Amino acid sequence: MSRVALVQGASRGIGLAFVRALLERPDVDRVVATCRAPEASDALARLGSKHGDALVSLRLDVRDEGSIAEAAERVEATCGKRLHWLINSAGLLHDDRGVRPEKKLEDADPARLRAVFEVNAFGPLLVAKHFVGLLRHEERAVVANLSARVGSIGDNRLGGWYGYRASKAAQNMFTRTLAIELARRAPNAICVALHPGTVDTQLSRPFSGSVPAERLFDADRAAHQLLGVLDGCEPEQSGCFLAWDGEAIPW
Ligand SMILES: NC(=O)c1ccc[n+]([C@@H]2O[C@H](COP(=O)([O-])OP(=O)(O)OC[C@H]3O[C@@H](n4cnc5c(N)ncnc54)[C@H](OP(=O)(O)O)[C@@H]3O)[C@@H](O)[C@H]2O)c1
Repeated sequence: MSRVALVQGASRGIGLAFVRALLERPDVDRVVATCRAPEASDALARLGSKHGDALVSLRLDVRDEGSIAEAAERVEATCGKRLHWLINSAGLLHDDRGVRPEKKLEDADPARLRAVFEVNAFGPLLVAKHFVGLLRHEERAVVANLSARVGSIGDNRLGGWYGYRASKAAQNMFTRTLAIELARRAPNAICVALHPGTVDTQLSRPFSGSVPAERLFDADRAAHQLLGVLDGCEPEQSGCFLAWDGEAIPW
């Protein structure tokens, strides 16, 4: 039986490292990598040359629901009706269109807040909406949404970063609610939110200067650590928020 993994947000950073790690695993037959412009990712092209048909790269923009629906149809047509890993990695903290984490209340801007919520919160939910049919099978499946510790309401002592924090808190609620629905509709699917730690990527680089070297993971290490957490997840942990070392984080 062919075992298929999909990584959403796979052009770079932690998502790309998940793709690399999954392609090396003997228990994974095919990896679907999605992002807004797969043809523009040299790293995905190199992996495609090395791994041939084991890697399928597809366009999926989480802010364009039609592209999510289209990707789901393409996955079913090329890989079949069973998905064993669905990893939502796409995230937005800053971009070259003015999105940046707010330092104070006056920095809050509706259009930028909307963009951050659309990618970080609505994205994984809409992906689940269109892929749920591929999670309903008799084998173990995992849905993992890349969250962030700063999305924990209980853990928020520093303030700031209104949009990113709140979008991850909203994503966490979507993940927990989805886990409850999946228990009915896809009972073999375990659904969790994951905190990867601080990882050296384009997303974190402007803000990670003060992080001690031993606490700053490279993306490959982060992906391996998170896959280890997912491999060890028990069905009772569905609906949990887990850190890279397996620790449960308060919502
Ligand atoms: N790095 C950290 O320290 C850290 C810490 C805590 C949590 N996280 C979370 O971990 C996840 C991965 O972060 P990262 O550090 O790997 O970030 P990254 O290097 O900036 O990569 C972000 C990914 O998201 C994709 N993306 C952005 N907007 C998208 C959209 N509209 N539709 C589809 N894909 C989109 C990007 O693809 P394209 O732009 O090519 O489409 C890219 O592949 C995020 O959810 C982030 O919030 C990261």
